[in-house]
Amino acid sequence: MRGEVLLMLRRQPGGYVSGEEISRRLDVTRTAIWKHMQALKQDGYDIEAHPRLGYRLRGGPDLLLPAEIEAALTTRRLGRSVAYFRCVESTNNEAKQLAAAGCPEGQVVVAEEQSVGRGRLARGWFSPFARGVWFTIVLRPPFSPQEAPKCTLLAAVAVCGAIRRATGVACGIKWPNDILYEGKKLVGILTEMSAEMDAINHVVIGIGINVNIAADDFPPELRSLATSLSLAAGRPLPRLAIFAAVLEELERVYDLALAEGFGPVLAEWRAASVTLGRAVDVSGPGRRFSGTALDIDDDGALLVATAAGVERVLAGDVSIRTPERKE
Ligand code: BTN
Repeated sequence: MRGEVLLMLRRQPGGYVSGEEISRRLDVTRTAIWKHMQALKQDGYDIEAHPRLGYRLRGGPDLLLPAEIEAALTTRRLGRSVAYFRCVESTNNEAKQLAAAGCPEGQVVVAEEQSVGRGRLARGWFSPFARGVWFTIVLRPPFSPQEAPKCTLLAAVAVCGAIRRATGVACGIKWPNDILYEGKKLVGILTEMSAEMDAINHVVIGIGINVNIAADDFPPELRSLATSLSLAAGRPLPRLAIFAAVLEELERVYDLALAEGFGPVLAEWRAASVTLGRAVDVSGPGRRFSGTALDIDDDGALLVATAAGVERVLAGDVSIRTPERKE
């Protein structure tokens, strides 16, 4: 309801909406409307109340509040239930608890800041307050546990497409699911699964998008590795619009996989890849080698041509070699 009130105010930029119209359109009392306005003010919205003209939105905080998300989203299932935190250890941890307790598919956990953001391979994830989109989504896909890695590829396709559409930044996917811009990391994705032998209970997909982070704000050890959308675009970018675009793309690509299998998703992954055709170094688990990334197979494994033949990589770290400069 608060989202709908906000949406009505937003649809009248700079103008007033009368309390009577809001209460008629949303079928609630004037007192209820007044309470929603007070709650929005508490969240940092600048709302002017005029005795004759009604309510006017003068400005709002740059926060990913559930009411804002609700007002911005056009999805049917994904992101329709949102758990919001100003600060949390890790949205993946919260999502796993909600998923285990039976939350609906499409449940989102979003935080303005993470105190112990987690990355792949037991690394951390830098998640400063209101500078990125740090969130996790719960899916309950009817795939086999062996197919779970493909959910990660699916998420990368969705995020890369959404970023290109919402910001125009020409990012690409490094296998399996890092989103890069000019060789530096813009987005990380951490997928975790709970499964039985033959069925997935749930998958939580944690996505961290560096949106408005200045170069100097990254910790020194990340400066040569990480970048942000505002650095790529040369201007600050709206987190909410990016978040909504990502959820919309996730729903489109997930529905595509449910309806037609992973074939079309893998085709989109190949088209957005910056790994294929490149010289790569592969490390782990238990092996290290170099070669040329050829393709991904139907399971989402990376196929790498080496002197000894074609190696299949299902897990591990892949780094793309930068071409040596000619003098
Ligand atoms: C990586 O190492 O590339 C994966 C990073 C994933 C970061 C996101 S931010 C939201 C979610 N919560 C976490 O603790 N991690 C993921």
